[in-house]
Amino acid sequence: MANLFNFDDEFKLGIEAADIEHGRLVDMLNTTHNLLREGKREEARAYFNKTLSLYVHEHFTNEEAFLASIGFPGLEDHKKIHANFRKSFEELKPRIETADDAAFRQALSDTFVWIINHIGKTDKKYAKFYFEKQSA
Ligand SMILES: [Fe+2]
Ligand SMILES: [Fe+2]
Repeated sequence: MANLFNFDDEFKLGIEAADIEHGRLVDMLNTTHNLLREGKREEARAYFNKTLSLYVHEHFTNEEAFLASIGFPGLEDHKKIHANFRKSFEELKPRIETADDAAFRQALSDTFVWIINHIGKTDKKYAKFYFEKQSA
């Protein structure tokens, strides 16, 4: 089955730990999408909630620690963006659990947009800072 999303090079930062974790989020969205196409809605919902919960806690924590370690000047703003995404997902999560399809669709679409805008654009800013600092 074709994937919804391919984790193309344009999404990669060149920082291995982050690329691995970002790749997991893309895999998660693809797996959820495939479960839905197979008609396994219950399974898709449970899997999505469980995996995205882990992601917003573990990846955001790891990434923020990395940004602090390199002295990234945009750290506070970056943390706020993470906190907003986490908050909006935490609000949708109980609704997804009770089979609220509108909430599930919203969370899927938010995650899709997140990959494009946050991983594809915002995270790239700290990668640029990191590589410039290394070559300075
Ligand atoms: Fe990230
Ligand atoms: Fe980030």
